Amino acid sequence: EPVLRDLAAAKGIYYGTAVTASKLNGTYGTITGEQFDSITPGNEMKWGSVEATRGSFTWSGADAVVDFAEAHAQKVRGHTLVWHSQLPGWVSNGTWTADTLRTVMTDHIATEAGRYQGRIDHWDVVNEPFNEDGTRRQSVFQTAIGDSYIADALRAARAADPAAKLYVNDYNVEGVNAKSTALYNLVKSLKEQGVPIDGVGLQAHLILGQVPSTLQANIQRFADLGVDVAITELDIRMTVPPTTAQLAQQKAEYKAVTAACVAVARCEGVTVWGFTDSDSWIPDVFTGYGAATPYDENFQPKPAYYGIAEAL
Ligand code: XIL
Repeated sequence: EPVLRDLAAAKGIYYGTAVTASKLNGTYGTITGEQFDSITPGNEMKWGSVEATRGSFTWSGADAVVDFAEAHAQKVRGHTLVWHSQLPGWVSNGTWTADTLRTVMTDHIATEAGRYQGRIDHWDVVNEPFNEDGTRRQSVFQTAIGDSYIADALRAARAADPAAKLYVNDYNVEGVNAKSTALYNLVKSLKEQGVPIDGVGLQAHLILGQVPSTLQANIQRFADLGVDVAITELDIRMTVPPTTAQLAQQKAEYKAVTAACVAVARCEGVTVWGFTDSDSWIPDVFTGYGAATPYDENFQPKPAYYGIAEAL
């Protein structure tokens, strides 16, 4: 079978997957190491995973992912430092002034990004800051600190790990629309102010038949602003059980998304959000949907896997 990481490297991009640290052995570990040259911890670096109780840290899952990556010559995408979800209750339910929450946030960034300093290629510093209409999501960070929390987070991340490329990441920003335009305007404004920002992550949790026709043009407009782009959480869900026709369409769509990244020089790579249907968040969250990844539940490559290979 083709080796995605080798094909990707020949095209000047990486091919990555989200992983579950506790599964990195056996067939799951073998495929992860052989096929992919970047890994993202699916949950293990989130604030709620590393500091559920204030001042009490759990790094075992995150450490395992970084160690695995180094043993397999893979990049690590750190995910994620500042996000409204999977936050510990002590943060989300705290009573904060702008100054106290800013300090808690920047201390968190200093601690986590500092722990892995020099070992992380890309950090999703801020995740999902926008609503669908392009206004700011009313997270605890937004409401307590205000618009400037994003710049504060990026500056803290740069200070903690100067070598990591710093990203802002969101979903439903793959095509040209109100939300991606808000992200575009944010990046433009951050760059004008000299705030450290290296790239934008397009999550790409897509529905079969709904790949935006403006994907490549959207990647290109961010590149033209002077930032890198990555597809960070690609999956393409369908109603289950899948038909042969649906799996064939999924192949074409994985190929098209991968090709859009290959086509734009500043698109650094693609990460799938789990490489196997046995390790996908989709069935848990989207009732009636599944089969969203390139390998089936028995680790057999699906047509989608060959679609990716054809684009590389
Ligand atoms: C998901 C994980 O895959 C699940 O295991 C977890 O229960 C919820 O979060 N956008 C993101 C990811 O940025 O962190 C989310 O990951 C999927 C949506």
